[in-house]
Amino acid sequence: MTTLAAPTFPSRTQEILDTLRQNGQLKHLQTIEGPMDATVKLKGYGEVACFCSNNYLGLANHPEVVEAGVAGLRRYGAGTASVRFICGTFECHHTLEARIADFYGVEASYTFTSCWNANEAIFPTLCEPGDMIISDEFNHASIIDGIRLAAVIKKGLLKTVYRHNDLESLRARLVEARANAAMTGTIWVVTDGVFSMEGDIANLPAMRTLCDEFGAYLVVDDSHGTGVMGPTGRGTHEAQGMPGAQIDYITGTLGKALGGGAGGYIAGSRRAIDLLLQRGRPTLFSNALPCTIACSAEKAIEILMREPERVARLRANVEAARSGIIEAGFDVLNSPTAICPIIVHDTAKAIAMSKRLLELGVFVIGFGFPVVPEGHARLRVQISAAHEASHLEQLVAGLKTLRREFA
Ligand SMILES: Cc1ncc(COP(=O)(O)O)c(C=O)c1O
Repeated sequence: MTTLAAPTFPSRTQEILDTLRQNGQLKHLQTIEGPMDATVKLKGYGEVACFCSNNYLGLANHPEVVEAGVAGLRRYGAGTASVRFICGTFECHHTLEARIADFYGVEASYTFTSCWNANEAIFPTLCEPGDMIISDEFNHASIIDGIRLAAVIKKGLLKTVYRHNDLESLRARLVEARANAAMTGTIWVVTDGVFSMEGDIANLPAMRTLCDEFGAYLVVDDSHGTGVMGPTGRGTHEAQGMPGAQIDYITGTLGKALGGGAGGYIAGSRRAIDLLLQRGRPTLFSNALPCTIACSAEKAIEILMREPERVARLRANVEAARSGIIEAGFDVLNSPTAICPIIVHDTAKAIAMSKRLLELGVFVIGFGFPVVPEGHARLRVQISAAHEASHLEQLVAGLKTLRREFA
C-alpha cells in the first residue's frame, strides 16, 4: 500500500522536539488548580507565589469582577454564536467599548477576542498600498505578524524597522520614507508602550513630536502599560504626561491588568473604528468576544477608574521587587514597569533556574529562543498589586538561593 503523506513531517517534528529535550530547552506547561492570584495552586507543587502572570492589578480573581462575569453568563448565555456584524453584537459589547473609549479619552473603540487579533486587524485594514509602516525592532510578535500580514494583503504597502527605542534610527527611517518615491500614502509609526520582554518603555512624547514633524500616525500597543503606567493606570502615555488622544491608535489586551480574561481592542477615531467594523477580517470572520468576558472586563476597568490606589500599590511593589532583585545579586533594568527581566543568556539555564525557583515555592518563568533572541534568555519576574510583602520576601529569598547555586 502506498502512503500519500510525506514521511518527512513526523521525523522532522520528532527531531525538533528531541533536540529541544536534549538541550534542556523543552517548555513544560504547569497546571493551575485554582484561581489566578498572588499565589496559585500548582499541580505537584501546591501553593506557590506567582510572579509570572499579567495579573498586574490583582483583578483576575476580584469578587466583583468574577461576579460580573457570572452575571453576564446568566444574562447572555454561554456563547455569542456569531461574528459581530451578523448577530454577535450584544449590549455588553457596546457598554465595554464605550468604557474603553472613555478610559483613554478617545472617540471610540472596538473589541476582539484577543489583542493578537486586534493587531492583525488594524494594519491590514487601515493601511493601504503606498503607505509605509515603521516599527520598533522589539515590538511584540502580534505587531510584527500584523504588519507582515498587511504587506501580503495590501501589495505595495511598504514596511521597515528602526532600532529599539532609538529616536535617531526612527528619524532616519522617517527621512527615508519621505524620500521614497514608492511612498505615496500615509506613514504609520508603531511601538509597544511597555516592551514585554525588556520591561522598558517607548519615549512617546518624543515619538509624537517626530510623527508630527513627518506627518505620521502613531500606533501604540499598550498591553503591558494599561492599568500599570501613569498615576491612574491609563498607560505609558499618561506616565509621560500625555493624554490618550495624542496617540492616534491604542491597541491593548483585556487579558492582563484589566481582569485577565481574554480579549483585545483598538481605540481611536470613530472613522477608523467604523472602517474596522466594515472591513477588518478578524471583525468579519471571527466570533465576538464572549459576553461573560465583556462584562467582567468592563467591571475591571470600572474598578481601576474607581480605585487608582491599586496602581500606586503596584508601583510600590515594583520598586520593592527591583531593590530586592538587586539585593539578591542580580542586575535588573531601572524602570517603573511591572516587568523585571533578569538576563541569564542561556535558555537551558533560564529553564533550570525557573524549575529550582518553583521547588522553592516561587513561580517565575524562564524565557529563551524563540520568544527572545538566542543568547538573551532570561527569567521574567512580573509584579502584581496583589503581592504582599511576604510574597516579595519569598521572591528575594528564592533569588538569593539561585545566586548561590547557579554562580
Ligand atoms: C505587547 C503585547 N501585545 C499583544 C499581546 C497579545 O495579547 P492577547 O493575549 O490579548 O492576544 C501581548 C501578549 O502577551 C503583548 O504582550
